[in-house]
Amino acid sequence: MKKILVTGGAGFIGSNFVKYMLKKHPDYKIINVDALTYAGNLENLKDISDNKNYTFIKADIRDRKKMDEIFFTYEIDTVVNFAAESHVDRSIEEPEVFLTTNVIGTQVLLDTAKKHWKINPDDKYCRKYKEGVKFLQISTDEVYGELGKTGLFVETMPLLPNSPYSASKASADLIVRAYNETYGLPMNITRCSNNYGPYQFPEKLIPLMINNCLKDRDLPVYGDGMQIRDWLHVYDHCQAVDVVLHKGADGEVYNIGGNNEKTNLEIVKLIINTLGKSESLIKFVKDRPGHDRRYAIDNSKITTQLGWAPEYTFEEGIKETIQWYLDNTEWIENVVSGDYMKYYDKMYSNISNEEVAATKE
Ligand code: NAD
Ligand code: DAU
Repeated sequence: MKKILVTGGAGFIGSNFVKYMLKKHPDYKIINVDALTYAGNLENLKDISDNKNYTFIKADIRDRKKMDEIFFTYEIDTVVNFAAESHVDRSIEEPEVFLTTNVIGTQVLLDTAKKHWKINPDDKYCRKYKEGVKFLQISTDEVYGELGKTGLFVETMPLLPNSPYSASKASADLIVRAYNETYGLPMNITRCSNNYGPYQFPEKLIPLMINNCLKDRDLPVYGDGMQIRDWLHVYDHCQAVDVVLHKGADGEVYNIGGNNEKTNLEIVKLIINTLGKSESLIKFVKDRPGHDRRYAIDNSKITTQLGWAPEYTFEEGIKETIQWYLDNTEWIENVVSGDYMKYYDKMYSNISNEEVAATKE
């Protein structure tokens, strides 16, 4: 039986992962640690909150004392580190918290894992760890930077991140790698492409467009809308993380992607058409500074070496996802309030008329 510390388990991917794991491995203990920032939402987890193998703890991964206590109390043997500031636009506005959470937070977790997992507690440089322990860092394809019209991200490429967000994630990858090289701490890193699916915070492209469409608000498309992302259903991401957790070779990095490249405009038009709205809702707005043009993943390492493959086709996945948002308007309403609206105002209210991104209710 594993005792897994899932950090950031109240966010979009983390909450999907917690539910996936409780179902797939009913004998595992899942300890979800989340600081409940604007992006953390316990409503995502209400259907499993009384599962006897699930514990939620509100805590910040930067809090060394608290992390130590949690490792001790729950005898943690596995970490899956989802906790992060995850939104590129916010990182351009306020980079600092991206560095403290995404880099320092990761380092605090690494130190705590090293302390609790090493065989000889008195040896600072002990490279021997308890059987079966692993630190799994959830990274992103954005650490590779951007691609031109052709080519794919492969795991051996240099890291060339362009936004404060992706730079913070790349820094975290490097410190995780260093703990493996220097101290022998067992680890894997996964680098996934853009996720979509239920419970995604409506600051990200797909839920933002669905929500705005439903309210007949303008749909803010950055620049010319021809940027390309490789979309993967969150369920397939969770499955891939589970596979890496169990089968990943020590110290290895695995890309995760769905071979599913779409331009932003294609995505926006698909949502408009599915919801029966008019394309006149589209508003081309000022581009994101440093906007990466294209991401695309070579997923052959995880598919050939670990046997993972995505289950969803994009057509099925997006249809199901749009329906989920239609069936869960209350969830969106609860989320799109308070702090998020303040942020939304800040991001979109100072844009000139022809760049107007969205109108508030
Ligand atoms: P999210 O913003 O929805 O969730 C992040 C969670 O982390 C929230 O619940 C938040 O409360 C928590 N958190 C933030 N700071 C914390 C701190 N200091 N201590 C404890 N908890 C904290 O993000 P997401 O989209 O679910 O992404 C999860 C992870 O996956 C991130 O590491 C992100 O970089 C990575 N990732 C995301 C995508 C994507 O498309 N969304 C793709 C690849 C990788
Ligand atoms: O590639 C993986 C990454 O995908 C993750 O690491 C990040 O955590 C996640 O946020 C996501 O980053 P992106 O910047 O690609 O996602 P976002 O949903 O913010 O934007 C997707 C694309 O849509 C991007 O090219 C910017 C564009 N966009 C986004 C918004 C919110 C718009 O044109 N208009 C918008 O209003």
